[in-house]
Amino acid sequence: MGKFYITTPIYYVNSTPHLGHAYTGVISDIIARYHVSLAEKTFFLTGTDEHGAKNVRAAEAAGKEVSEFVKKKREVFINLAKALNLSNSDFIFTSDQKRHWPGAQKLWNELSENGDIYKGLYKGLYCIGHEAFVTEKDLIDGKCSDHNEVPEYIEEENYFFRLSKYNAEIKKKIESGELSILPGTRKNEILSLLEEGLRDVSFSRPSRDISWGIPVPGDAMQTMYVWCDALTNYITALGYGSEDESKFTEFWPADLHVMGKEILRFHAAIWPAMLISANLPLPKTILVHGLIQSGGRKMSKTLGNVVDPFRIIEKYGAESLRYYLSREIPLFSDGDFTEEKFIEAYDGNLSNGIGNYARRVSTMIKNYFSSELSRPDDGVLASVPMHKKTTFFNSEDRSPSIELEYFSVSYFIEHSILPKYHTHMKEYDINSAANLVFALLGELDGYVQANEPFKLIKTDPEKTKAVLWNLAYGLATIARMLLPFMPNTSAKIFDMLSIGAAESSWKKFVVKDIPPLFPRLETAKNSAEK
Ligand code: MSP
Repeated sequence: MGKFYITTPIYYVNSTPHLGHAYTGVISDIIARYHVSLAEKTFFLTGTDEHGAKNVRAAEAAGKEVSEFVKKKREVFINLAKALNLSNSDFIFTSDQKRHWPGAQKLWNELSENGDIYKGLYKGLYCIGHEAFVTEKDLIDGKCSDHNEVPEYIEEENYFFRLSKYNAEIKKKIESGELSILPGTRKNEILSLLEEGLRDVSFSRPSRDISWGIPVPGDAMQTMYVWCDALTNYITALGYGSEDESKFTEFWPADLHVMGKEILRFHAAIWPAMLISANLPLPKTILVHGLIQSGGRKMSKTLGNVVDPFRIIEKYGAESLRYYLSREIPLFSDGDFTEEKFIEAYDGNLSNGIGNYARRVSTMIKNYFSSELSRPDDGVLASVPMHKKTTFFNSEDRSPSIELEYFSVSYFIEHSILPKYHTHMKEYDINSAANLVFALLGELDGYVQANEPFKLIKTDPEKTKAVLWNLAYGLATIARMLLPFMPNTSAKIFDMLSIGAAESSWKKFVVKDIPPLFPRLETAKNSAEK
């Protein structure tokens, strides 16, 4: 049995979570659930990034003690994970002195013993929003363009990490795909950064300025730089640096780090360099998603367009939000969220799409066959094929292998839909995998129109039974494909057909009455307005 280790970034707790935070979590959860469904031993980590100037400043603004403040905010992030139905195996937070600090300090010592930490004088600009040093070229009118703030000028002694030493090696590993960065455009972006050359980075701040953080081992006058501290969460959560490193041995290296594009360089340059220095294996893949905007603009308090995920979940349910984020938002470019678009997608694809199909199929089975369908003989099934010129691909090398005009619904599912679905899911292309659910739905709708079971029942009940069997089998397949995306909807469909997720249990469908999967929102809204 294989293993799969997947992580989200750990979230800053300086403000309450918005839809962007929910997005990273949902995408990661879908991938994690898919790997669970492959029977891989899966570890899915998320958590909070609680040190650094950003959190301290937010606590001060709220008039709270920092540790109290971050604890309260952490609870909100934990609640968000629950509300989104994330299946995370663990939740790490960096102010955890027992679980996180020893490993972070151990890694620091490794770098130091390897001669990669040295003391130097730092002169330059620090942007608290980024929690990073910035240069003049990152500024517009003297302000950081992402955070619209004037950075602090800092001149101080701190420790540096010899990042430049690893430039060539990291570049080689990224080029060769040993450290894979998806999509290719992001890989190229990081390669050109490496082409320019990495400079050593400041890895600590004097504790008189920043005391909220992890003390540098052997020098309590210095606090670890928040990114150096935060990146180690991916291994401290597995017990690195603790008495029991068995999880670390079992799960490291990570199979996948998921993140938004703005933090790629920390993960594709600093983190691999730290790991190489400590002689630890590198993560296998970094998946970089785009950012979610709202109404075409970056979400910001000033614009008043920040989308609160809790409000959306409360109003429309976590399942439909998971649907919207995974299918309607392009994974690799920036996407847009507005409530109008959300409602439109929900009504069009969930209510009229999957919901309506499930209702039609179950009603016919109920009315024509007293709610029960056993698998018809192969001969009868063969009499109601799909009719459509289709090229089936060789599932091994994906070369076109055979063109057919008539084939059974189950052949189409097994040899066209599912192989493509698994390929997409394994490549983390969740948009395309979700699109296939709707492609199958479209084919099944076409099959209803071609066979008209509501007319056929009057002349040929046997054939009608086979048609409906195929339609129910298609519905069960949709539920199986939706499992990582909308686990509760899947469970409802399996329940409606009285089957389990495993195909071996699909010998007979007994249809139960269940409430509509996705009541129409437009109608709900209209009737509420009346
Ligand atoms: N604390 C760092 C990560 C440290 S990981 C060792 C951080 N935190 S964050 O809270 O600012 O961002 C966490 C994640 O949320 C990132 O993947 C980020 O890209 C994502 N998002 C934050 N705003 C977003 C959008 N508007 N849209 C999509 N995702 C965004 O960075």
